[in-house]
Amino acid sequence: MAMPPWHLLLFPVPASVQGMTVMIDTDTYRVRMTGISKRYGTMQSLDDASLSLKPGEVLGLVGDNGAGKSTLSKVLSGAVIPDAGTIEIDGKPVSFTSPADARAAHVEMVYQDLALCDTVDVAGNLFLGREPKWRLGGIPMLDKKTMHARARTMLSNLGIVIPDTRMKVENLSGGQRQSIAIGRATSFNPSVLIMDEPTAALAVAEVEAVLELIRTVSAQGVSVILITHRLQDLFLVCDRIQVMYEGRNVAERRIEDTSIEEVVNLIVGRKFSARSAGRAADEGVFA
Ligand SMILES: Nc1ncnc2c1ncn2[C@@H]1O[C@H](COP(=O)(O)OP(=O)(O)OP(=O)(O)O)[C@@H](O)[C@H]1O
Ligand SMILES: [Mg+2]
Repeated sequence: MAMPPWHLLLFPVPASVQGMTVMIDTDTYRVRMTGISKRYGTMQSLDDASLSLKPGEVLGLVGDNGAGKSTLSKVLSGAVIPDAGTIEIDGKPVSFTSPADARAAHVEMVYQDLALCDTVDVAGNLFLGREPKWRLGGIPMLDKKTMHARARTMLSNLGIVIPDTRMKVENLSGGQRQSIAIGRATSFNPSVLIMDEPTAALAVAEVEAVLELIRTVSAQGVSVILITHRLQDLFLVCDRIQVMYEGRNVAERRIEDTSIEEVVNLIVGRKFSARSAGRAADEGVFA
């Protein structure tokens, strides 16, 4: 009889994960990540992690702090090179060594720290590095009129309300900044869009606007990975959730088959059972 990997003996995989291959039609994967591992010194950030995603699907990626959500996403966005594992996009194996590689494969990530230029205006941020130009005696000049017109069209197509594309980003609210970062990412025509904590620092109305943006892009066929600690948001936009713990997949649920209470338990359950086991050992229960 074939033995399971050693860690399965220590951390048996829940039935929901074991059933994963049954749940998903393998013909229609947009993303398949399997056996992804990443170690930093003694820290095993990812340990045989996996992730799959269908076209237009919104996947909520959840887990406690340090569970490996950002690292797994950065592997897909080309920002982190894994020690092991494979990635397939639309059935083709890919190997990303930089975010530019991922961008060429239509994978975009909106990072937690947003990476916008505060002193540049809205349109400038949307087109950073790709500004429309015209030539004056052979010298390239910034075509501001075209840039602002394109920026207005881009924002209105996404339902993003910004009063003026000439506003400096430093004067925008958190929600508007987040929208600009997402707008910039979608302008690269992604088929996969990863958002790391897009609503963490936003006011209630701004959260709703970002969630609406997720609905808009997924309705256009873009597959979305949403990392969030705001569990209520999962039930508003996600089709499915994946729970991680200490670099591993621990559970996966279709959103209609779960509840906020179950998701909380899946995220913290093992931590608390490990703690109570530790306490029980301290108290001599196992003696
Ligand atoms: N560049 C790095 N160098 C060293 N350790 C790292 C690095 N990046 C991540 N780690 C470690 O890997 C583990 C997973 O981190 P990661 O950022 O993926 O977690 P996360 O699930 O996104 O957590 P959070 O919810 O707090 O954002 C953590 O223990 C983290 O400290
Ligand atoms: Mg993170």
